[in-house]
Amino acid sequence: MKILVTGGSGQLGSEIIRQLKDAGRLFMAPERSELDVTDAEQTTEFIDRTAPDIIIHCAAFTDVDRAEEEQERAFLVNATGTMHIAEAASAVGAVLVYISTDYVFDGKKKDPYLEMDHPVPLNAYGKSKLAGEEAVRKTISRHYIVRTSWVFGGAGPNFIKKILTLSKTNNTLKVVDDAMGSPTYTVDLAGAILRLIQTDRFGTFHLANGGACSWYDLATEAIRLSGSPITILPCSSEEYPSKADRPRYSVLGNHKTQPLPQWQNAVKRYLASISV
Ligand SMILES: NC(=O)c1ccc[n+]([C@@H]2O[C@H](COP(=O)([O-])OP(=O)(O)OC[C@H]3O[C@@H](n4cnc5c(N)ncnc54)[C@H](OP(=O)(O)O)[C@@H]3O)[C@@H](O)[C@H]2O)c1
Repeated sequence: MKILVTGGSGQLGSEIIRQLKDAGRLFMAPERSELDVTDAEQTTEFIDRTAPDIIIHCAAFTDVDRAEEEQERAFLVNATGTMHIAEAASAVGAVLVYISTDYVFDGKKKDPYLEMDHPVPLNAYGKSKLAGEEAVRKTISRHYIVRTSWVFGGAGPNFIKKILTLSKTNNTLKVVDDAMGSPTYTVDLAGAILRLIQTDRFGTFHLANGGACSWYDLATEAIRLSGSPITILPCSSEEYPSKADRPRYSVLGNHKTQPLPQWQNAVKRYLASISV
């Protein structure tokens, strides 16, 4: 079983690679210079030549605010790039895993989003990721679409790292408390994806850590566990304007697979891993 991981330098891709290495699995993780998903020819050539059995497609344009200003680029990477991957995967008979997002939903629900709920993205990032989902569904039947949310882990920037960095130079921090979601640790997510690909139960899945919280709750828990003396104050989204509109509620219901650990437990393990 040969596995190709795109986006291997990112938060999720690097954790998938770590777990594949630990398990002694055969994998390829080309850098963007070797496999730029926006380049149809390069993508097809790479996948044809290496003939993977499974492609775990983590590469994406993930900057939600920048996607508002660079919509064309966001669609090129997340929609067209994903179509290139799906077509090449289909041509070599590979199974495709596409990572999608809670931001395909508009946040109008009051209870966790299920896989069959109708996606209505509010921002360009969400629209481009939904277009990626559609490209996968129409191109390749042997696919897993994995929606996840509020990801944190080893590589790259994430919300918890940002809060911990700010806590070193501030006595108080204001954090939005009117947007609820499901924080998800790359270690748990990568493990769940690697279990999922052994099932041959294709389709759309929500994979997120258990429970739900606001950004304020997440910051408060991270600061409490870090032992920092600073105070976190709740504020509204209006007080913290950003370029992209975000859903106020994007908790993902995780019913089709084994539930992942609660988010508080995941944050605790993450902070222990970065020795805070
Ligand atoms: N982060 C979140 O909170 C979150 C939430 C929900 C869903 N997701 C989804 O989860 C997946 C992984 O996210 P992440 O946080 O791990 O992402 P990330 O840390 O931002 O990493 C993105 C990866 O994509 C690669 N990439 C970007 N453009 C590329 C291109 N044109 N060709 C090839 N590679 C390219 C980057 O490579 P370089 O190193 O060359 O830039 C990097 O390895 C994405 O599909 C994302 O949409 C993320």
